[in-house]
Amino acid sequence: MSKPICIGHRGARGYRPENTLSSFEHAIVLGCPWVELDVYAVGSELIVIHDKTVDRTTNGSGLISEMTFEELRSLDAGDGQQIPTLDEVVALIDGRCSINVELKGADTAGPVNSALERYCGDGWAADQFLVSSFNHRELAKSDRTYRRGALFHKLTDDWLDQALDLNAWSANFDYRDVDSELVNKAQKAGLKALVYTVNEPQDIRRMFDAGVDGIFSDYPDRVLAVD
Ligand code: G3P
Ligand code: MG
Repeated sequence: MSKPICIGHRGARGYRPENTLSSFEHAIVLGCPWVELDVYAVGSELIVIHDKTVDRTTNGSGLISEMTFEELRSLDAGDGQQIPTLDEVVALIDGRCSINVELKGADTAGPVNSALERYCGDGWAADQFLVSSFNHRELAKSDRTYRRGALFHKLTDDWLDQALDLNAWSANFDYRDVDSELVNKAQKAGLKALVYTVNEPQDIRRMFDAGVDGIFSDYPDRVLAVD
């Protein structure tokens, strides 16, 4: 059985302000082969931030959908950094690891399709991207050129049908729902089984033992440390 891949969640969220350039750089320094980030479309830009509002992760307040790009960029997202654009994160990473783009905001699939096409024209490979979402309607609009990850909050009886209907590459589960039986079911159907967000060493160990294909962690070094 091969080792699960390690995916730095929002970069290396346990060590740096989440979804910032310093967080992605730190994830690479720790040795992550993959990082995960969350995107919203604001005007013609894609910004990298997790919540619908800026309250938790910046020195500002308010809904992203009610702010201009310039207002968003004037905020401090931690350690004096701006909320990054997807272009900035991709330029920083520059092929040093692969990227899971999670579609968080409304109408993000189209702009992400265009952005990934541009990056692939600049030398990135299509399989260096995974596009995921809890919003399966939005995910269904993502370009089939790129891998799709069907995210699940809670497991429903039809999770496998949902993932297969999406032609997903992976099913991305809350680790608390996961055991080896679920992993086998996904893998037998041709899906990778990824689990989020696993931070405690005993939980990471349990996911290794369950045979998952990938682990999202705020502390990617803890995943990388497991033999
Ligand atoms: O994609 C894994 C994980 O990021 C999904 O949950 O809320 O952290 O975006 P969330
Ligand atoms: Mg996410």
